[in-house]
Amino acid sequence: MSSSSALLGSRAGGYPHRHLLGIEGLSPEDITLLLDLSQAYVEQNRAPDKKSNVLRGRTIINLFFENSTRTRTSFELAGKRLGGDVINMSAESSSVKKGETLIDTAMTLNAMLPDVLIVRHAESGAVKLLSEKVNCAVINAGDGTHEHPTQALLDALAIRRRLGRLIGLEVAICGDILHSRVARSNIHLLTAMGARVRVVGPPTLIPSSIERLGVRVFHNMLDGIRGCDIVMMLRLQTERMQGSFVPSVREYFHFFGLDRAKLAVAKPDALVMHPGPMNRGVEIDSELADDIDRSLIREQVEMGVAVRMACLDVLTRSLTSNAQAGS
Ligand code: NCD
Repeated sequence: MSSSSALLGSRAGGYPHRHLLGIEGLSPEDITLLLDLSQAYVEQNRAPDKKSNVLRGRTIINLFFENSTRTRTSFELAGKRLGGDVINMSAESSSVKKGETLIDTAMTLNAMLPDVLIVRHAESGAVKLLSEKVNCAVINAGDGTHEHPTQALLDALAIRRRLGRLIGLEVAICGDILHSRVARSNIHLLTAMGARVRVVGPPTLIPSSIERLGVRVFHNMLDGIRGCDIVMMLRLQTERMQGSFVPSVREYFHFFGLDRAKLAVAKPDALVMHPGPMNRGVEIDSELADDIDRSLIREQVEMGVAVRMACLDVLTRSLTSNAQAGS
């Protein structure tokens, strides 16, 4: 039995969902299962022979209606390292350009009998809609400002590996919360796992009633990161902004950009994170982002491949058990 079979078998029922559309709705046990399995894949990825055949015979389609570098590449690597066939489609090169709708594209791909569709789309809710029309498992690789579940899982894995736990940690998520699916998925995951989450940013970039998700809101950066274990910075997502949300980039960095001077008010060994792509000098000081003692950014990217392997693994296993159960 492989280490992943042992892990999945050790929990009655394994991963109980057909898709991975968001962190909201996952239980702490689901999250722990995915993180533990990811941990095993970190070891596989660090070995000279990085390949296994968990996904042999499986077809995975990466369907990206929005640009991506790390997410798309790491899903592709994850599928290939598990021995699956991976196909990449971007909206640029597909019939979407010719006016085909999201659902028509999904139905066309569905007819080719993929096992997993990995979808990124600019509209919140689009990936869920698509999942209702297809027979295969669907992974949300980011839908609008809604959720980006694999990013939150990889962030949690990076934190857990470095600090040994999530429970009880004080985590500040800073910057453009309003447009960030990364923030929303992280809030769901971290609060579910017993961390305390603060969101920090100017009032224009914090959604109203975000407190309902169980976070504390700060509009002053120093107050927001004081005493934190983790300071997670977010990109200013100008492509999602209509109109002006910040006075100027220079002023934004002055008040909300993370540099060593501001980080000094967090815990002495506090760690810095960023999902990428970074705007160096806008939300984070360039030299701090590269400091291997304080920054988890490189590890976040590495963990991304392992987490996506774990997600593909569990979702294709539940396909097998659905087929065996005749559902
Ligand atoms: C994030 C995304 O696409 O939501 N990036 C990523 O997946 N690594 C965050 C961002 O684009 O700023």
